[in-house]
Amino acid sequence: MRLVLVGPPGAGKGTQAEFIAEHFGIPKISTGDIFRANVSGGTDLGQLAKKYMDAGDLVPDEVTNAMVRDRLGQDDAREGFLLDGFPRNVAQAGELDGILAALGSKLTVVLDLEVEHDEVVRRLSGRRTCKKCGHVWHIEFDPPSRPDVCDKCDGELYHRDDDYPETVRHRLDVYAAQTAPLIEYYGGRGQVVSIDALGTVEDVTERAIGALTPFAD
Ligand code: AP5
Ligand code: MG
Repeated sequence: MRLVLVGPPGAGKGTQAEFIAEHFGIPKISTGDIFRANVSGGTDLGQLAKKYMDAGDLVPDEVTNAMVRDRLGQDDAREGFLLDGFPRNVAQAGELDGILAALGSKLTVVLDLEVEHDEVVRRLSGRRTCKKCGHVWHIEFDPPSRPDVCDKCDGELYHRDDDYPETVRHRLDVYAAQTAPLIEYYGGRGQVVSIDALGTVEDVTERAIGALTPFAD
């Protein structure tokens, strides 16, 4: 399965990506996670990306596209993948078509996580992310058993720099202007499946797997 997840910031893409990728046995490729790993590693790519991420803007397409082309060319992505956070505008979607065509494959399906504005603000304001394994927690909806420590790997949890209210507002505007049009782009090809992303994490996982199973090989 070659799958793209779309949905506004805070829809639960990263949370669901872990479960969906595991269920279907495909690698999870999150552009946000790759950028954040580069920021903490102090690489040139990280230094460049950080300026855009902290402002809630998209990292320039040429940088992001090159990174994704490289990642999708790796062996573990040959039989399938889950993309979380890419593509994020119509130009990136066109680039993805080209990358896949060059690899002799094409996208299977786009899963659209639908969630209302107030809920994403609540989800992002309480999010805590593990520095070590990247697992996502929520102080109210999915709390770790010890404050600021990851139950999965004992790593330290942190509040993402782009999760403060003003940046969240801007990220939501960027989503509406640049990313939401992808639903029409892929919808026009009959490739979009939308699910309600409200409810518990487990409820949403069940809905996602139910919606995607007909597309599994
Ligand atoms: P990215 O990391 O992709 O951020 P995003 O799209 O804004 O999405 P989030 O990670 O904020 O939300 P999510 O949907 O993953 O929600 P989560 O599962 O964490 O991108 C960050 C930045 O990187 C961008 O702004 C840009 O600068 C750059 N970037 C990345 N990709 C790029 C690209 N392709 N092109 C250019 N630039 C790019 O859940 C949120 C919270 O809610 C968590 O606390 C979770 O525990 C909780 N939660 C989840 N599900 C539920 C539920 N069902 N009920 C209650 N709480 C829940
Ligand atoms: Mg995420």
